[in-house]
Amino acid sequence: MEIKKVGVIGCGLMGHGIVQVAAQGGCEVIAVEAQQDFLDKGLARIEKSVKKLAEKAVEKGKATPEQAEAQAAATLGRIHGSLDKKDLADCDLVIEAIVENLDVKKALFKELGGLCAAKTIFASNTSSFPIGEMAAASGRPARFVGLHFFNPVQLMRLVEVVRTDATDEEVFAAARAFGEACGKSPVSCKDTPGFVVNRLLVPYMVQALQMLERGDATKEDIDTAMQLGCGYPMGPLTLTDYVGLDTTLFILQGWKERYPNEPAFEVPALLVKLVAEGKLGRKTGEGFYKWDGDKRS
Ligand code: 3HC
Repeated sequence: MEIKKVGVIGCGLMGHGIVQVAAQGGCEVIAVEAQQDFLDKGLARIEKSVKKLAEKAVEKGKATPEQAEAQAAATLGRIHGSLDKKDLADCDLVIEAIVENLDVKKALFKELGGLCAAKTIFASNTSSFPIGEMAAASGRPARFVGLHFFNPVQLMRLVEVVRTDATDEEVFAAARAFGEACGKSPVSCKDTPGFVVNRLLVPYMVQALQMLERGDATKEDIDTAMQLGCGYPMGPLTLTDYVGLDTTLFILQGWKERYPNEPAFEVPALLVKLVAEGKLGRKTGEGFYKWDGDKRS
């Protein structure tokens, strides 16, 4: 069960990175978006990132300029944009990386279940929703996994591969092998809220937000403390900006609804307020901090 042709639905923050690493791993990739301008934006980000990684490879002496250029061109040549989900019909694997809304995801998988060949494996990049519910909606629960990548997908080395009780062993093995082909280290997860990383990470972000709400420390001091005290590459508030305040809120609201008595899943009022103000983090130029591209001020 080899994965050679991959479809990715959604070419945003996570989707564009998944398209890129799959193409870097040698797969033909169809990137599907709902609108041409979203697709153009995603493909432009990929081109920029591929070029950056090629420059880095030359700088580090891992490739000559000619080799790096040829590799970058080959990666980009394997990526095809589309506005039509029907183009995914004969893919070996289709990964969903759309908005973090369970009803929208379930409707998408129901549609894909009718469109794609019987061999096609489906995967969701959801951060927090039950894989089993999407698997049921798709009509092919045995061929359904979670493939949870991390932001920025191009640089983060982990992928969580999530199975339900219904996932076929061969499908799960193929999904792990695909993760490795993308240059990632896969970890196997059960279908539990937040899998491994977000079950630990999101409550930690909530604690940092509540600390800020209470006025226990400034945002800068909270972030510096965790960076220098724990050796984390980013402090929790910078990381929330990086992940997206809206995404963090969607995750928490989904969990709160399902597990109302779990104290780790409290939704901080400050998060709700900032999202309502359109301060979603790096992607909108402002969250806890102001952002100019990748640079925080
Ligand atoms: N493609 C190619 N190159 C990129 C890139 C990309 N997407 N993003 C950054 N780079 C380049 C930068 O341009 C930079 O190049 P330079 O050295 O020539 O300037 C280089 O990579 C290193 O970047 P930085 O200078 O920003 O330095 P860092 O060493 O701090 O690395 C980082 C950046 C990898 C993002 C690091 O800060 C980090 O690991 N942060 C934590 C990220 C994290 O925890 N992610 C997980 C979030 S949780 C999640 O995604 C789950 C979800 O479900 C919520």
